[in-house]
Amino acid sequence: MSILAIETSCDDTCAAVLEQDGTIRSNVISSQEQHSRFGGVVPEIASRHHLELIDAVVDEALRRAESGLDEVELVAATQGPGLIGALLVGLSSAKAIAAARELPFAAVDHLQGHVAANFVRGSAGGDGSAGGDGSAGGDAGAGGNGGAGTGAAAVDGAADGPEPFEPPFVCLIASGGHTLLARVTGRDGFEVLGSTLDDAAGEAFDKGARMLGLGFPGGPALERLAAGGDPESFSFPGSPGERRGGRSPSRAAFAAGLDFSFAGVKTALLYRLRELSEAEREQRAGDLAASYQAAIVESLMSRTERALRQSASDRLAVGGGVAANGELRRRLGELDVEVHVPERSLCTDNAAMIASAARFTERLEYPHYLDLDAYASGERP
Ligand code: KG4
Ligand code: ZN
Repeated sequence: MSILAIETSCDDTCAAVLEQDGTIRSNVISSQEQHSRFGGVVPEIASRHHLELIDAVVDEALRRAESGLDEVELVAATQGPGLIGALLVGLSSAKAIAAARELPFAAVDHLQGHVAANFVRGSAGGDGSAGGDGSAGGDAGAGGNGGAGTGAAAVDGAADGPEPFEPPFVCLIASGGHTLLARVTGRDGFEVLGSTLDDAAGEAFDKGARMLGLGFPGGPALERLAAGGDPESFSFPGSPGERRGGRSPSRAAFAAGLDFSFAGVKTALLYRLRELSEAEREQRAGDLAASYQAAIVESLMSRTERALRQSASDRLAVGGGVAANGELRRRLGELDVEVHVPERSLCTDNAAMIASAARFTERLEYPHYLDLDAYASGERP
């Protein structure tokens, strides 16, 4: 018996089938390309596309899992936080599937899902290694044709590969909507140690990429551009040189303790670009991208190391789309603690992580979930 989960908190329409022991049977992700020309996700467009895609994506997840609804014992969906219209499409679809069969239902918190990506067993078909290979992209199955007209990347599970990473550990979640450090002592929750005071790390990547004339989402594109640049050529708040030198006027960009701040590095890039001529901007784009990326990664690393020290922990897990970044994965691989980095297709938004979290979330029996509502941000209702 297995769990069918749906995730539609932002612009990816995702469905997955997972075994109770955490083995991934299928993990289908259909990314909506149409937002790139707007330079960001347009909520109304995202909701409409989820509506168009959701049935085909769920069918594809079941087909890839070689499973019918008869084998599903629990249905789950992301309840929040996220874009409310987008969330409602996935939540309502999942509730309808569960209600039609009078199955139990689990409403999952999206951030708990990112943490729970560390609890899956085996491979989703990606690279799976801490430290990574330093290259952008590289997800197995990404860009593949999931069939059923979804254009989805379908990543099939395999039982071999990493074992679930067991709590206790410190967890860094860095995505387009959130950046936080958490203490994870059990499989059913986490305690926030620090979070961002302004932009999320992924947002900083996306906005920087936009300033550099790259498409959306900007993280992977900026990483590719950075691969040809010198990370020490420009000094931004948060960059390694700044931390060592300590005489930068922009040290104020560092938040005290374990909180993050990315507004300073973003503004610094804007000013740096203004100082350069158009020809210089073009010529030095790789250097700018590499230095900007280094500053964001350094900011993530410095607080993560501090959180490990403060928690006296020697175990670290990561999650969120930014954890797909090769430079961050390389730096994480250098830490002298045990680091668990889910493969890239489990770091960016996916439904396997929601199914994973669902195993440790309260099960609501039919019909007690029918009036569940989605939540955009903050605490679950
Ligand atoms: O977790 P996620 O898929 O969605 C949210 O919950 O927000 O994260 C998406 C974010 C985007 O901001 C994207 O630019 C960033 O993750 N991202 C990356 C990379 N891949 C995705 N940032 C840096 N390097 C990457 N390779
Ligand atoms: Zn996410």
